Amino acid sequence: MSTNSIDSLLHETRRFPPTAEFSANAIAQAGLYEAAKADRVGFWAEQARQLLHWHKPFTETLDWSGAPVARWFADGEINVAYNCLDRHVLAGNGDRVAIHWEGEPGDSRSISYAELTAEVKRAANAMAALGVGKGDRVAVYLPVIPEAVVAMLAIARLGAVHSVVFGGYSSESLRSRIDDASAKLVITADGGWRKGKVFPLKAAVDGALANGTSSVEHVLVVRRGENEVEWTAGRDLWWHDELEKAGAEHEAQGFEAENPLFILYTSGTTGKPKGILHTSGGYLTQVAFTHKNVFDLHPETDVYWCTADVGWITGHSYVVYGPLANGATQLMYEGTPDTPHPGRWWELIEKYKVSILYTAPTAIRSFMKLGRAIPDRFDLTSLRLLGSVGEPINPEAWIWYRDAIGGGSTPIVDTWWQTETGAIMISALPGLTTLKPGSAQVPIPGVKIDILGEDGTRVDPPQGGLLVVSEPWPSMLRGIWGDPERFRETYWSRFSKADDWRYFAGDGAHVDADGDIVLLGRVDDVMNVSGHRLSTQEIESALVSHPIVAEAAVVGAADETTGQAVVAFVILRSDQEAAQTVDEASTMLRAHVTGQIGAIARPRQVFVVAELPKTRSGKIMRRLLQDVAEGRELGDTTTLTDATVMQIITDKLK
Ligand code: WT7
Repeated sequence: MSTNSIDSLLHETRRFPPTAEFSANAIAQAGLYEAAKADRVGFWAEQARQLLHWHKPFTETLDWSGAPVARWFADGEINVAYNCLDRHVLAGNGDRVAIHWEGEPGDSRSISYAELTAEVKRAANAMAALGVGKGDRVAVYLPVIPEAVVAMLAIARLGAVHSVVFGGYSSESLRSRIDDASAKLVITADGGWRKGKVFPLKAAVDGALANGTSSVEHVLVVRRGENEVEWTAGRDLWWHDELEKAGAEHEAQGFEAENPLFILYTSGTTGKPKGILHTSGGYLTQVAFTHKNVFDLHPETDVYWCTADVGWITGHSYVVYGPLANGATQLMYEGTPDTPHPGRWWELIEKYKVSILYTAPTAIRSFMKLGRAIPDRFDLTSLRLLGSVGEPINPEAWIWYRDAIGGGSTPIVDTWWQTETGAIMISALPGLTTLKPGSAQVPIPGVKIDILGEDGTRVDPPQGGLLVVSEPWPSMLRGIWGDPERFRETYWSRFSKADDWRYFAGDGAHVDADGDIVLLGRVDDVMNVSGHRLSTQEIESALVSHPIVAEAAVVGAADETTGQAVVAFVILRSDQEAAQTVDEASTMLRAHVTGQIGAIARPRQVFVVAELPKTRSGKIMRRLLQDVAEGRELGDTTTLTDATVMQIITDKLK
């Protein structure tokens, strides 16, 4: 972010205090901050007891003796699925709609808590019959359909571990995730709907399992796209057949609070994605707490909609676990916002009377581009709270969101968190906080955040620094699957001293004069494209795996809609230069990255260059490439081995 815009962010003067009416009915009360301040650990114990059902109550709250691996509520026992299902039915809320689901072609289903519970019981029995039990890993590769939620909850019910892989990832990406976690079972669909067409999923699973050495014993296939699929007898089974055969009764058993719940892969600074591990009791406590208090959830009356795909952490915490633990009624939508028309989201909000909407700045900015006339055609008056997540929301988009979507009156919560943090860490609490565009504002009660300088000392406003979490929190990651060394190195080595552990988030941040936290984006080689995290190195590896490429450098260039966009610079192998036109090479390489990782990683541009700018020690100077990609004057080139390289690159691109 340029210094100029940081300056304007830090001097944002618009303020939006809560209305008296909102505050009077608000879930979050000021006492939360006081209680957490007086006894932080005790505060979380109180939340865990109040918000969840424990099969066996815990007596011990936090065990930090194995730092940086925390144990929360460790002597307690819990069943995560029971908390999201059975207990609501037992409390007399079985008829409440859990999920209003809308398919992209317009088909829809409304599923009550009683129905969802019944379906999860059958799915749990079906999986148990296939040998899935406590601790086993199950990969889930599905579109946004109710079966994705059913599958995740059924796996959790058995004490097994899900690894959901976003349906947009390639067969290659799926394979590496299945192998890393040695998954026993894969749950997929024939296909799903996207932009008016069925995209095949089963075929990608077949590709991922093609070498025959996989740990996978069975593939359960949900029928959704009705597209043709190939079938491996003995291995492949239809979901509907197996559920029909399975028994209807299934008693949820308690598992220890630290029993692993899921692994979710995310990009880091090096090529290989990290399998972020989350466990049960602490995770569920913090997602339930934040979902209730940050979104001001009144489960009897609200209709909540989080637009995230279940394949991301936002989908795990704020489509599946948070809302269902709190007994919310929510909307789930399979398709894209512009199919079959650009008002599809607003039409859905009108149809289901959505009252809480949680989405990403990139979506808001693309609607902004299309203009207000589109949302203006729909009745959006049911909305009373808006949320944002995934990247900093610029004040202009914030104001548009509030005006065009929120009718000029809804509070907006800008929520900062990460796959690793499991749940929201920084956010306003609606009804309490005076809102300010462009800032995620304050840590939630019970979370301790600091901004440190490079030397590890606290920085004071107006200095910026690096964001750390200074105390363990319930939903924190418990490790990187199979790689304890990388876990310590990535998050804990930078600022921790002796017994003073500091979690390094990888984000730059400022504290403004009011004490509000302004996030400035990643400080490492991680890009944020449309709120999705991508690693420059992972895309570089994909590029150099193509036979025509000798060397590659990838940068995240500022993009008006997506926040950042992937821009690649490649040097072709000398024997290839003549054989390819630059356009052919670029088209081929964009497709190659899609095949290797998935369409989300496809570069916006691939520039073929003769050389890359390097320091004398051989490090690629991405900063300079970023200047070129963003069309800026070049920064300092004095440390380059050959200062003319940049001149040649810029001249060529002009
Ligand atoms: C990174 C985490 C958490 C769910 C979605 C992304 C950026 C996230 C915000 C926000 C500024 C944000 C950070 C963070 N980020 N939310 N409200 N303001 N930046 O999860 O893929 O794990 O990415 O997203 O840079 O480190 P993720």
